[in-house]
Amino acid sequence: MWPVLGRLGKRHQNAKDKTDTMSRLDSFIRRLSAQRDILNAVADDVRTLDGPVLELGLGNGRTFDHLRELFTDRRIIAFDRAVNAYGPSMPAADDLVLGEIKDTASEFIGTGASLAHADIGTGYEDKDAVTLTWLPQTMAGVLASGGFAVSGLPLEHPDLQALPLPDSVKEGRYFIYRRK
Ligand SMILES: C[S@@+](CC[C@H](N)C(=O)[O-])C[C@H]1O[C@@H](n2cnc3c(N)ncnc32)[C@H](O)[C@@H]1O
Repeated sequence: MWPVLGRLGKRHQNAKDKTDTMSRLDSFIRRLSAQRDILNAVADDVRTLDGPVLELGLGNGRTFDHLRELFTDRRIIAFDRAVNAYGPSMPAADDLVLGEIKDTASEFIGTGASLAHADIGTGYEDKDAVTLTWLPQTMAGVLASGGFAVSGLPLEHPDLQALPLPDSVKEGRYFIYRRK
């Protein structure tokens, strides 16, 4: 066996030996797969609703690009504190809201969104705990009745009803709710 393949084989074996941990790469891939699978799963229901789609945390714009594919004739408004999107995935200026989402999204309360997606978890418990002091009410507030909240962080709010995940998504990896 080539030496490099031997090393890969050993690393793979080590990874398989781990039962309750995974590499950050595996974790990243599973989070993005979960995100995509959930967005695909709710797309038909979202299309039956009026109202824009909100992308909280534009980042590189990969998810924004996927949302554009899913909702071709829907307004999609993206939020971030800074512009870091890959050029072709840049929203039009009117559909990009810059600043702290806690502040900027509060202007969109009552907007009647059909879908709000938030991928703004950091993996740091203390930082995510601060985000969770405002994110659930922001998500509930921007959605129309029957609208969908899809989030990398769990959202506890009396107006958000948790929905079952697609079979491909492990419990706790990503979250989906429907606004009552
Ligand atoms: C994980 S990335 C999103 C990746 C995105 N789904 C993509 O397809 O590239 C999170 C983004 O949210 C932004 N973000 C996180 N928390 C924020 C906040 N409180 N206010 C504004 N932007 C925030 C970060 O700047 C970052 O660009």
